[in-house]
Amino acid sequence: MLTARLINLHKHYDLGSFVVKALNGVSLDIPEGDFLAIMGSSGSGKSTLLNLLGGLDRPTSGQYILCGQDVAQMTDDELSAIRNSRIGFIFQSFNLIPQYTVVENIQVPFHYRPGYPPISPLDEARSIELAEQVGLGDRLDHRPFQLSGGQQQRVAIARALVNDPAIIMADEPTGNLDSQTSIEIMRILKKLNAEGRTIIMVTHEDEIAEQAKRQIHMKDGLIAGEGIFRG
Ligand SMILES: Nc1ncnc2c1ncn2[C@@H]1O[C@H](COP(=O)(O)OP(=O)(O)OP(=O)(O)O)[C@@H](O)[C@H]1O
Ligand SMILES: [Mg+2]
Repeated sequence: MLTARLINLHKHYDLGSFVVKALNGVSLDIPEGDFLAIMGSSGSGKSTLLNLLGGLDRPTSGQYILCGQDVAQMTDDELSAIRNSRIGFIFQSFNLIPQYTVVENIQVPFHYRPGYPPISPLDEARSIELAEQVGLGDRLDHRPFQLSGGQQQRVAIARALVNDPAIIMADEPTGNLDSQTSIEIMRILKKLNAEGRTIIMVTHEDEIAEQAKRQIHMKDGLIAGEGIFRG
């Protein structure tokens, strides 16, 4: 089963006086259960590619098939429904809500469910279980400023798992963490992949990328190569 197929995808930003060609014809297949690292220098198009893959943005041209459906044929509501139910996002800067506790941060995706049902006792139990899974069972009522960077990223991972997504998209998930803490975060991502989730991760670091199953290198909005580059 394919999770995602990109065919000759372009993303151009028209800035009036000139056009930034952030993606310039990317074709890529991502099978279910893949663990893909997207590498490349700053400005090469990695985040643009991840945002398109995650349905946060739409391409200028080209085709994107997500979970068997052509994204161009989807309304914004249909796309956000797929995004909310199938995809979990993790960011470099954690993006936690400072005044919320660990449990409340994990529950944030519940607030975007269709029909906006209130948080039930079952949801409460689910968010506590996720906090325990990422090793924060004794930090449930802490706020982000009371946590280390690695702990904050673990809250973000638990939040990404709330809707039991098949796909996890991570943009430099270890970019703000020291190497020991990065190892912890990668251990969690590898476990999620071993459980069958597809993981798509942007990273600058070889040591992080080589823990994925597959690597692609972006250059000037194109895939310039695959595998680990040394040198
Ligand atoms: N909203 C936007 N409007 C105009 N240009 C943009 C926009 N977003 C990105 N770009 C441009 O598109 C190109 C690719 O940006 P992108 O953020 O994908 O790079 P990146 O590979 O993620 O870089 P980094 O490693 O620094 O995060 C860059 O030249 C950037 O300036
Ligand atoms: Mg980026």
